[in-house]
This record gives sequence, C-alpha cells and structure tokens, in this order.
Amino acid sequence: MELVVKKTDEETLYKLILGLVVPRPIAWVSTVSKEGIYNIAPFSFFNAVNDAPPVLMISVSDRDEGTLKDTVKNILDTKEFVINMVSEELFEKMKKTGEEFPPEVDEFKEAGLTPEPSRFVVAPRIKEAKVSFECKLYKYVPVYDMHVIFGEVLLIRVSDEIIDENLNVNYEKYKPIGRLGGTYYLKVYGECKIK
Ligand SMILES: Cc1cc2nc3c(=O)[nH]c(=O)nc-3n(C[C@H](O)[C@H](O)[C@H](O)COP(=O)(O)O)c2cc1C
Repeated sequence: MELVVKKTDEETLYKLILGLVVPRPIAWVSTVSKEGIYNIAPFSFFNAVNDAPPVLMISVSDRDEGTLKDTVKNILDTKEFVINMVSEELFEKMKKTGEEFPPEVDEFKEAGLTPEPSRFVVAPRIKEAKVSFECKLYKYVPVYDMHVIFGEVLLIRVSDEIIDENLNVNYEKYKPIGRLGGTYYLKVYGECKIK
C-alpha cells in the first residue's frame, strides 16, 4: 500500500500515524489551573528532544468542538507542568484520566491518585508514578492543528526501587507502558535487550 498524503483523508492519516509510529511512550501530564484545580491527562505524541538540559515535548490536539484541552490551557496560563511516566499497575488510572472531564473536576480525585507537591513547579507530581519530570515551559509551537509544547526539565524524580547507583534502570520493576495504535498497548519489561 502506498498513500499520497495530499489525496488521503484526515481519518486515514490519523489511523496510519497512530498505528505505525510505534511504540510511543506516554507522558502522563499533571498541571494546575489558574483557579487552582488539578488536572491529569495522557499524551503519546511525546518524546525527549534534548538531554542536557533535558527538554521533553508533547503534542496536543484541540477537543472535537475546537476548544483547548485543559492541559494546554493550564500550561499556557502557568508555564509549568509535570510529566509522569506510566507503569503497568497504573494503566487503568491512566486510561481514566484520558476521559474528558470539565475543567472544574480534580482528576487526581477522579482517578484515585495522590497529588505530591513538586519542588520547582506549582503543578503537583503523581505520587504513585515511579518517574516524574518537573518542567517549565520552554517553547510553544503550533504545528498545523496541534499545540506542541516543549518543557525544560528542572527536576527528575526516580523511585529508588527502579534504579541502581550506576543509573541502570530495572525495567522489571519500572514496567513502563508504550502506546500502539487502536486499543493496543505494549508492556516494556523483562528481557528486552536485542543483541
Ligand atoms: C494513551 C493515550 C494517549 C493519548 N495521546 C494523546 C496525544 O498525544 N495528543 C492528544 O491531543 N490527546 C491524546 N490523548 C487524549 C487525551 O488524553 C484526552 O483528550 C484528554 O481528555 C485530555 O485531557 P485534558 O482536557 O484534561 O487536557 C491520549 C489518550 C490516551 C488514553
């Protein structure tokens, strides 16, 4: 199959990009609104773009009705956010936070998660997550219909149980989840070296 993009409809392109650019890590983004309401949402258009200093990016669409998602609104308002990583046991809670809630709903409460104060940003970290990156907004770049947000990492919190003193990560304990297309996800742990 070959598809010329200019002759291909948007839904087909969406399915192909989501299904073929895989596996994608999931940024589980916690933010706080100007009014002080906590918000969490997952984004798999996510990756690292610089290591020292670390810069991470997420790419967020509008809602179907054309309004900004709470995550984008909160980041543009406060210039701060936290990217938490999703481990297998948090999968269902992550999915819950992917549902659409009105801005006045605290998604920590909805998903049964614990807000933990961050050290450098106002947005709380997700206590149950094994990894959190406290970020300040580095750059905001609209790309066609997407809001691309780059965050400079101010602090990296890693649970001691998943990392040793040589910075080797134990994936059997970390159990990160990757996103594939449709309803498919990937468990990334166990023997995952390719020799
Ligand atoms: C695993 C997963 C990955 C997602 N990735 C994205 C993404 O990359 N970009 C996006 O705009 N929405 C993505 N979504 C949908 C958002 O999480 C969803 O629209 C959410 O309700 C936004 O919440 P907010 O309004 O609180 O920001 C994803 C959902 C799930 C479950």
